[in-house]
Amino acid sequence: MKKLILAAVAAVIALAVILPIINLIVGLPKGVKLGSEAGAPQAYLTAVHALGEKCGNCHTDQGNLPFYAALPVASSLVKGDIQKGTEHLDMVATFAKAPAEPICEATLAKLEHVILKESMPPARYLAMHWDGALTADEKKAVVSWIHEVRAARYSSPAAPDNLKTAVIQPIPQPQKLDEKKVALGKRLYHDTRLSKDNTLSCASCHDLAKGGTDREPVSTGVGGAKGGINAPTVYNAALQIAQFWDGRAADLAAQAAGPPANPIEMASSWPEIVQKLSQDAAFKAEFEASYPGGITQENVCDAIATFEKTLLTPNSPFDRFLLGDKSALTEAAKKGHALFMDAGCATCHAGMAMGGRSYEKMGLHADYFANRRNPTDADNGRASVTKQPRDKHRFKTPLLRNVALTPPYFHDASAKTLAEAVRKMGTYQLGRNFTDQETSNLVAFLESLTGEFEGKKLQ
Ligand code: HEC
Ligand code: HEC
Ligand code: HEC
Repeated sequence: MKKLILAAVAAVIALAVILPIINLIVGLPKGVKLGSEAGAPQAYLTAVHALGEKCGNCHTDQGNLPFYAALPVASSLVKGDIQKGTEHLDMVATFAKAPAEPICEATLAKLEHVILKESMPPARYLAMHWDGALTADEKKAVVSWIHEVRAARYSSPAAPDNLKTAVIQPIPQPQKLDEKKVALGKRLYHDTRLSKDNTLSCASCHDLAKGGTDREPVSTGVGGAKGGINAPTVYNAALQIAQFWDGRAADLAAQAAGPPANPIEMASSWPEIVQKLSQDAAFKAEFEASYPGGITQENVCDAIATFEKTLLTPNSPFDRFLLGDKSALTEAAKKGHALFMDAGCATCHAGMAMGGRSYEKMGLHADYFANRRNPTDADNGRASVTKQPRDKHRFKTPLLRNVALTPPYFHDASAKTLAEAVRKMGTYQLGRNFTDQETSNLVAFLESLTGEFEGKKLQ
């Protein structure tokens, strides 16, 4: 018996030492190629070569497996890692159009986060692959490439030089746009003639005095029709990559075309709206002064979108803090900020609006939908646009600016309070349970994200 145990212990020790040594001799499996290399700058090439070689094989389903992946137990461990790794970040897909198209802000945030925390590759993998980690030079190359992309493509006009490479950027003042178009858009946004029975305007569901939402679990359309998903805010919506939870509208103008003709929202039709507005001679004349093409669906949507682009909310306590006023945050909010960054919240809630830059799976670390039950069509998320199974339950990450003003939370409005939303984010997106103290610090931080519109703090 004793001999058997000794033999088993010896076998384990041998594996723990011999396998890594064999791995060292055999070398890492061939890396994966990320994006195109033609004409790419050297700094970029150094970064993507390192990522392709040391990280790529676990972060794509098209990678090369190590020789031991053929062994019985190892095989399922390797496959499990690849499946999880690819769900978190599909590097081949992400880099497919690089460097011509910049890598998305959330991916940059994720890469920077794991490099700074030294959390990738996973420790169990490094125990078997002693040469598996990025070298100091490789880390430096990846981080400086990330900073270059941010500064060149994503930095806020309000960011001083020392902030241009940061994962979260201050909200700028709205650009100067054609004032007449903005004024027309503002009127149309509040115009009930966009609905069938002249009862609803955009503002009915996106009240600018309620954080740009209706603060209801689901909205009520014409004739009391109930929607199937929570209404997001219009404030800072212009800073997102696309519109709607599933991103089905490419921009604000494309988005604005939807609700008027949606039977459970405004229940009208564009020909009807164009006709109603055209009967208003004064409005028609004013509109034609800005839009020579006259009142058309396209021009009405353009005016509304132009107005929406002015709905930026700079000057929140957090932005003042970012810009150097260290007294702008309470102690609790400062601790919440540190935890927000350290825990990895900003790996999804990245950029100026702290969200709206990527589609993320709800339930990365635990099955949110199995626990919540009663699936709805709205739960499909991005998959309803792409028809790809891997996009199921992925949503455009909601932006966190002014989030304290817009309960209830999540696409299904399942979280009534910020504290509840924060706890669920810990469980489902990060695999951790925050203490009450941590939760209240995070909430204090989220409350510091309320900005100003037209010089007044939003309420
Ligand atoms: C052995 C396979 C393996 C290797 C090698 C590997 N990863 Fe991962 N990676 C995973 C798995 C599995 C996850 C899912 C999270 C977890 O289990 O910790 C993950 C998650 C991630 C995430 C998402 C983390 C987040 O916050 O959402 C990033 C980013 C990442 N890896 C980057 C890298 C980088 C960069 C490297 C190379 C330095 C690398 N990975 C190497 C398996 C791997
Ligand atoms: C009956 C309520 C209702 C009305 C009226 C309404 N909306 Fe919405 N709005 C919603 C809901 C619900 C969503 C989310 C739908 C989805 O993602 O599938 C939404 C989404 C949006 C978004 C996307 C925000 C984001 O972060 O993705 C914008 C922008 C928007 N609406 C603007 C408008 C404009 C402009 C009008 C008027 C032309 C309007 N809405 C009319 C309920 C409404
Ligand atoms: C892996 C990406 C990811 C991470 C990490 C993440 N979130 Fe989220 N967050 C999301 C997605 C996706 C949603 C929308 C989920 C839904 O509607 O079902 C969301 C929703 C929210 C909401 C509700 C917003 C609204 O308007 O409905 C809050 C608040 C929030 N997150 C805060 C946090 C905090 C705080 C952390 C860190 C503790 C965090 N998130 C980490 C992706 C992420």
